[in-house]
Amino acid sequence: MNKILSKTYFSEKVVKLEVEAPLIAKARKPGNFVIVRVGEKGERMPLTIADANLERGSITLVVQVMGVSSRKLCALEVGDYITDLVGPLGKPTHIEKVGTVLACGGGVGVAPLLPIVRAFKEAGNRVVSVIAGRNKDLVILEDEIRASSDEVIIMTDDGSYGKKGLITEGMEEVIKREKVDLAVTIGPAIMMKFCEKLTRKYDIPTVASLNALMVDGTGMCGACRVTVGGKTRFTCVDGPEFDAHLIDFDEILSRLGGFKDTEVAKLHDVEV
Ligand code: FES
Repeated sequence: MNKILSKTYFSEKVVKLEVEAPLIAKARKPGNFVIVRVGEKGERMPLTIADANLERGSITLVVQVMGVSSRKLCALEVGDYITDLVGPLGKPTHIEKVGTVLACGGGVGVAPLLPIVRAFKEAGNRVVSVIAGRNKDLVILEDEIRASSDEVIIMTDDGSYGKKGLITEGMEEVIKREKVDLAVTIGPAIMMKFCEKLTRKYDIPTVASLNALMVDGTGMCGACRVTVGGKTRFTCVDGPEFDAHLIDFDEILSRLGGFKDTEVAKLHDVEV
């Protein structure tokens, strides 16, 4: 059982939870995630570790209410316990000095992007971050991203903050004016698909961090399978990061859509 130490609302549906997990806080690396379960029969939910505090023995998770499980998790208050939390899982991000890194995060994807931005900056890279949200309230962790970036471009769909437009427009502005050696993209699958399309046009190596559906998180169940370079890969053990130019995003999008009706029906059933 892991205690919730603090809870902050970024918006009505996006919550930052600081959770007691001293061993994970010590062992985690950028790119790692945990699997969380609320209630004995709860669904297992993968969440990337946004931050860790060694003194407090805690990790930070950012959760967006999407379905039943995330709603249950977001309903927990300070002092409540998460039934179980396993991690750190997944392969850490490969960090090295490459030159200029274009770090692109959309919505809650900015949370897993944060430790990656920090690590690339600490490795001596120039880091230009493009963070996006549908509106001002959905742009999260701006100050934290700013602290480790040489430049930050903010994009909102409705123009309520930063520049009006899609994340790809902010990315292209940077790509057109300077040489980008590596792009990292984290966010909704549809967003990553278009980020990849853009960087392919400019021949920029790109890494995408996938947030697949997961069950066991140990490579046994196959729930998180994705096709990368024509081969089946498991997001939980082979990822979550892959060469974006090799990912079959259309397959991911159709699999994610497959559970929508069940999820909507469940949401109407459940009270938390
Ligand atoms: Fe089961 Fe990855 S979650 S194989």
